[in-house]
Parts: sequence; structure tokens; C-alpha cells
Amino acid sequence: MRIVLGITGGIAAYKAPELVRLLKKAGHEVRCAATEHALEFVTRVTLETVSGAPLYSDLFASGRTEHISLKDWGEMLVVAPATANIIGKVAGGIADDALSTLLLAFSGKPVIMAPAMNCEMWAHPAVQRNVATLKSWGIRMVGPEEGELACGVSGVGRMAEPEAIAAAVCTATCSRRLQGQRWLVTAGPTYERIDSVRFIGNYSSGKMGFALAEALAKEGAEVELVSGPTALKIDHPQVKVTRVESAREMYAAATEVFPRCNGAILSAAVADYRPAECADHKLKKNGSEGMHLELVQNPDILATLGSMKQEGQTLVGFALETDNEEANAQRKLEKKNLDYIVLNSLRDKGAGFGVDTNKVTIIGRDGSHNESPLMSKQEVAGLIINTVTS
Ligand code: CTP
Repeated sequence: MRIVLGITGGIAAYKAPELVRLLKKAGHEVRCAATEHALEFVTRVTLETVSGAPLYSDLFASGRTEHISLKDWGEMLVVAPATANIIGKVAGGIADDALSTLLLAFSGKPVIMAPAMNCEMWAHPAVQRNVATLKSWGIRMVGPEEGELACGVSGVGRMAEPEAIAAAVCTATCSRRLQGQRWLVTAGPTYERIDSVRFIGNYSSGKMGFALAEALAKEGAEVELVSGPTALKIDHPQVKVTRVESAREMYAAATEVFPRCNGAILSAAVADYRPAECADHKLKKNGSEGMHLELVQNPDILATLGSMKQEGQTLVGFALETDNEEANAQRKLEKKNLDYIVLNSLRDKGAGFGVDTNKVTIIGRDGSHNESPLMSKQEVAGLIINTVTS
């Protein structure tokens, strides 16, 4: 989402760069608009650096219609910190600087405010009346919190922490369509040990699976993410990550949680075979020219879940094909008792392992066919979730 962060002149303005960072981490684009007083507490350079966009602070600096273009660009306006002054101005319909002008022009779109001020100011009937007016117009308030204030006293007036403001933004932007549901996602490669220092692995980065887990959580689902070895991290209260190494460990974790899930999306690149034996020490060269490694088949997690699947559960697999793509994918869909199969073609540039983009065809048991253009893995994840949960 495109978010305009308005910053007004309170000590808590020093937390605005952290809020920008959290919003960007959650996948939003952020531009900042600050009052003159805000820039006494946080610098233009800092805000422009963290947001990666020019700061809007002067109504007359770059033409007189910047507030209109920013109003058109922004899909949500967050004011943090919001002083008694800006709350009063909006309640009174006053537009006398860049931010207050933008706020009045921003009608019909969501606005969140995080008030911050001295506790007596917050308790003043004028402020309370203005806050009630803004709330009656649909403006959401986050905080203020009780605690020690910059002026040395304790009371209600501290700005909510950036994490709480970012969470409120998330709640306001999420549709929560999948609230109450639990989904299993597998991600990443598996490592199959040869000895104490070597393994058979593959180039899967886990990016697609992590994007799927995040997209499901954003829609309100609880997610069980079972991931093979990857450096990726996910920091979402609704995603529980179980880290595994081998196909057999992934099999154990996935089959354990699947009965409690509404559905599963298996995007992991699971090794089909593993060494028949794993040495508990580092194997030495044996003096001969070659070496034979005996491999045995790993359990097929997707096929197992297909045989466990109950009425009402949705099972989605991935297929990475090089030729006869659609026919092979269709065959897998039937053989493994899937509801959908997401086909990745290795012929498509920018799709598949390691990269940030992907291009897929989602084939449904009902014969549906949904082909995506080349998109970011986040966008592909959104498309997959929309298709398999609708
Ligand atoms: N999969 C799995 N467990 C395995 C192997 C694969 O869960 N042991 C899942 C993958 O996560 C993916 C799908 O099955 O969702 C891939 O199907 P698969 O038949 O393994 O594809 P390929 O490895 O491409 O198979 P083949 O070599 O037969 O083409």
C-alpha cells in the first residue's frame, strides 16, 4: 500500500524514521510529510533517506499542488506523532500548512493518528472533543499510552510505539478474509546428509514459500511454515516457523500439522533421493578414481498429504517442468490428489529458483487455468492465495 506518513512537532517525532522502516518492511511504500516544527525534532535528510523519497513540508516549494498529487498518490495517511495542534486544526477544518492542507484534501481514504502530548493537554476538554469529532469521521486513533512523558511527569500522552502503529496499519489494510483458518506451507530446499560435513541440496532460496506464508498471514490465517535450510526470516505473530533439514524431517513436521489445517501449499524443493547411508564422520578419499553413492527414495510429502486429505481441505502443489509442462502438471495434479498445481516453467526468464520474480500458471482440478505475467514473488503469492482460497 502507498502510505503518506505525516509528522508533527512533538518529541516523539524522533521515532518516525523507525516507523517508516517498519512500514517499508511490511511491504508498503512510504512518503513523508512533515510540519516545520517536526523538523526541529527529526531531520529532512533522515526522513528522505529512510523513505527513499523527497519530503513534503513546504506548501509553496515545488508548485502549489503538491498536496493534491500526494493526496492522489497516497492510499492511507498516518500521522505520528499527532500533536494537539494538528488534531485541533483538522477538527476545525483549518489548512494553513503543508500537512494540514494534505489532511483536508485526503477525504474518503483511511487516516490513522497516533496522538502524543502532555497528559494535561490530552485530558483537556477541547482536545477530547476534537478527538471525538475525528473519530466520528472515521479517523482511527492509536494510543496515546500511559507512561513517562518528555516533560518529566507520568500520565497518558506517550505516543504508541512504532510497532503498535505499524500493527494498526496492518489491521486496517488486511482484509482478514482467512481469519480462523490454519494453513501449512513448505518452503526452501532440503539437505540430505552424505557425511558429517557434506550434503546433497539444491538452489531453492525459499523466497516463494516465505512470500506465501506472509500473504496468508496478511489475510488473517494462522500459518505453519515448515522450512528447509534458508537464511530467510519472517517476523509475523501469525506465522509459526518450524526449521528442518532433510526431506524426512519435513515429512514428519508436515504430516503432523496437516490434519489441523484448512489447506496446504507445498512449495519446497524436496530432494527426491537421499544417500542410503550417512557417515557420522568426514569421509576420506578412498584412493580410487571414482566413488559410488547409493541413493534411496525419500517419502513424497505432497502425495502423502493427498492421501490424508479430508473433505473441505485444499491441497496445492508446485511443479517445476522443462518440457510437456502442462500435461506433466495435470498428471501430477491427478496422481497426488491435488486441488491446484502451480506450474513454474524453467523456460521462462526471471522465474524459478533464487530470483525475486516468478511467472506461474495455476491449474485447478476443475479445469481452471490462471496464467500470471512475470511479477514479484509477493505478487505471485497474492495471486495464488486468491485463486486457491476463493
Ligand atoms: N514434493 C514433496 N515431497 C517430495 C517431493 C516433492 O512434497 N518428496 C512436492 C514439492 O514440494 C512440490 C511437488 O511435490 O510441491 C513437486 O512434485 P514432484 O513430483 O516432486 O516434482 P518433481 O520433483 O519435478 O518430480 P519429477 O522428477 O517426477 O518430475
